[in-house]
Amino acid sequence: MKLYRAKDYYDMSRKAANIISAQVIMKPNCVLGLATGSTPVGIYKQLIEWYNKGDLDFSRVKTANLDEYKGLTKDNDQSYYYFMRENLFRHVNINEANTNIPDGTETDAIKEAARYEEAIKELGGIDLQLLGLGHNGHIGFNEPSNIFPKDTHIVDLQESTIEANKRFFDSIDQVPRQAYTMGIGTIMSAKKILLVVSGEDKAQILHDVIKGPVSPSVPASILQLHPDVIIVADEAALSKF
Ligand code: F6R
Repeated sequence: MKLYRAKDYYDMSRKAANIISAQVIMKPNCVLGLATGSTPVGIYKQLIEWYNKGDLDFSRVKTANLDEYKGLTKDNDQSYYYFMRENLFRHVNINEANTNIPDGTETDAIKEAARYEEAIKELGGIDLQLLGLGHNGHIGFNEPSNIFPKDTHIVDLQESTIEANKRFFDSIDQVPRQAYTMGIGTIMSAKKILLVVSGEDKAQILHDVIKGPVSPSVPASILQLHPDVIIVADEAALSKF
């Protein structure tokens, strides 16, 4: 694991955006694994800025998102499809046909999980997977458990995750209870992984992820076993080191 120390959220975003830009420049038809949530917003802003300056070209880039809430339509402003469109896709020259997100409206969970896993294989795998870190150590929606789930699957969200995500909804009752997510095996198959972490509220879990035992009770701890992981974290998130 390579650890890059950033001063603050803005610095973290720029450093991480630089790594993604390098990937796009070195391999213009690369496959980017993307994440939603608060942490990557600054990264996407930076990428849009560089695209507007003419420094980046997304025309041949393909993407696969980590996860999507089950039951939300694409036009629901809390769906991850909507998030990606608003925070990145509609601002750059990516071809929508090259973007992949689990279909939250598919009710047959087994069918959708298998379709998505296959779609990633057909892309030839992920070159660079961007990850945020949940307060409980989750990556994607792989919640603490006693196993590492391998492939894309449906999950019941934990109370702590529902609680953390309620800020985006009018009320806690509107937070979906299930989501599709890449599995830990899907994530670990990415050639390179970029984990971004910001804020003091993530300091303890980041410490456990890097220094603790590899255990499904802290899903992100599995990243210790990946051969090419870069962590970009700000000083607040690194305050327990
Ligand atoms: C988002 C995702 C989640 C988030 C995590 C951190 O696609 O898969 O694992 O990365 O919940 O979220 P934030 O960045 O909002 O703290």
